Amino acid sequence: MILKTRLPDGSQAPRWLQKIQYTRNSIAYMDAAQRNGDIFNAPVIGNHDVVLFVSNPQALQRIFANNTKQFIAPLNQLLQPIVGDYSIFSLVGSRHRRERRLLMPPFHGERMQTYGQLICELVDKAMSSLSIGTPFSARQLAQEISLDVILKVVFGINQDDRFNHLKSLLVNLTDSLQSPFIGGLLFFPSLQKDWGTRSPWGYLRSLQRQISELVYAEIEERRNQNQVLGSDILSLLISARDQTGQPMTDAELHDELITLLIAGQDTTATAIAWALYAIHRHPQVGEKLLVELNHLGSPEPKTIVQLPYLTAVCHETLRLFPVVVLTNPREVKEPVELMGHQLEPGMRLYGCIYLTHQRPDIYPEPKLFKPERFLERQFSPYEFFAFGGGARRCIGEALALFEMKLVLATMLSHYRLVMADQSPEYPQRRGVTFAPARGVQMVLKEKFSA
Ligand code: HEM
Repeated sequence: MILKTRLPDGSQAPRWLQKIQYTRNSIAYMDAAQRNGDIFNAPVIGNHDVVLFVSNPQALQRIFANNTKQFIAPLNQLLQPIVGDYSIFSLVGSRHRRERRLLMPPFHGERMQTYGQLICELVDKAMSSLSIGTPFSARQLAQEISLDVILKVVFGINQDDRFNHLKSLLVNLTDSLQSPFIGGLLFFPSLQKDWGTRSPWGYLRSLQRQISELVYAEIEERRNQNQVLGSDILSLLISARDQTGQPMTDAELHDELITLLIAGQDTTATAIAWALYAIHRHPQVGEKLLVELNHLGSPEPKTIVQLPYLTAVCHETLRLFPVVVLTNPREVKEPVELMGHQLEPGMRLYGCIYLTHQRPDIYPEPKLFKPERFLERQFSPYEFFAFGGGARRCIGEALALFEMKLVLATMLSHYRLVMADQSPEYPQRRGVTFAPARGVQMVLKEKFSA
């Protein structure tokens, strides 16, 4: 086979300008670059000369399926200062595989059933703060719910004082990470200097110290409990053992709890906000969902999460509005051919979720919100991959989808919501996620009695 020599560039602009364009509007950058094919060089992340964005399902299959020889999954240096050295994000190779084996069982789909009732109650609790007729931001409301879910389901915190204290610190931490002054420092390690709590990095460090103190206190208390541990994910992780029979250390548990919070909270909240937007912009979708839900009478959470149309609505939301537009990076380990191009060691590759989900050959009329497409066809894990793939595929997928479905089902069947206005929403970078720029402004019209 004759190999094409030059990898297509995503843009002819100088690298510094491409970086600015990508940072300011990643979606517009990717839309324009896509004209150069389904693999192109976009040197907009880090300092690598070759950063390939890939949106070809066959190529993605090869990259995800081969994690040891030709492609490897390096650590996430950007997040390491936040999540710590023992986080799954910071580990590679066999240590990463060990960590995944320890973390994944508590997130298994079947286990999620335990948390169904609790999630529905947390939705009603958050909704009770709204008054009829007053506009609210669906993204903020969803964030309130998903933070409560993480603290109850993952951390299992029941003490009110600690719950409230940790919650307010975590809101400050996630808000700081979204801010260009503090979150922006993640891109410039040399500027990460702790000059006291008035300096941006010092403020972040002080938040981290306070959060760590509470998390370690919770771990210690839980270890010392004589009674049987609870059903929350921290309890399961405390009991987990690796292949050599070793439990996780306190430092490992701490770093993983912070990781689950950073990876799991804003992502799920943003997905819920996009779903509420899409459903209420397309009233016929909301009506079909209500018919499906009403047909069940008073269903159990485990029945709700199996509903086909509700599932299709969640998938179509994540297709059209992927919360995360790129996978974590993969790296070429040894010379390899991909799509007729010769790749060399050290080159970086990203699965481009956004562009793959926009391919008209897979999703006809890709800009339209059409949940039915997920009922008519089954998509491969390289055509629809909102949660990434292969060795670093999201471990929280089951929890995220479970939560999304229960939040939507509870909101639609207990409350009547409408959009506050009809202007469209566009995705805007919010930390690592792409969230509706105006936060989806809605109004509560009616509460239905249970
Ligand atoms: C709608 C919500 C979510 C979306 C769209 C999402 C998406 C993703 C994506 C795209 C990746 C990178 C996968 C790759 O590189 O191939 C990822 C990784 C990860 N996600 Fe999620 N995620 C969501 C919710 C969650 C939740 C709820 C948790 C846990 C509570 C979680 C925990 C993680 C972790 C720990 C990783 C790193 C896995 C590793 O490096 O081995 N995510 N997620």
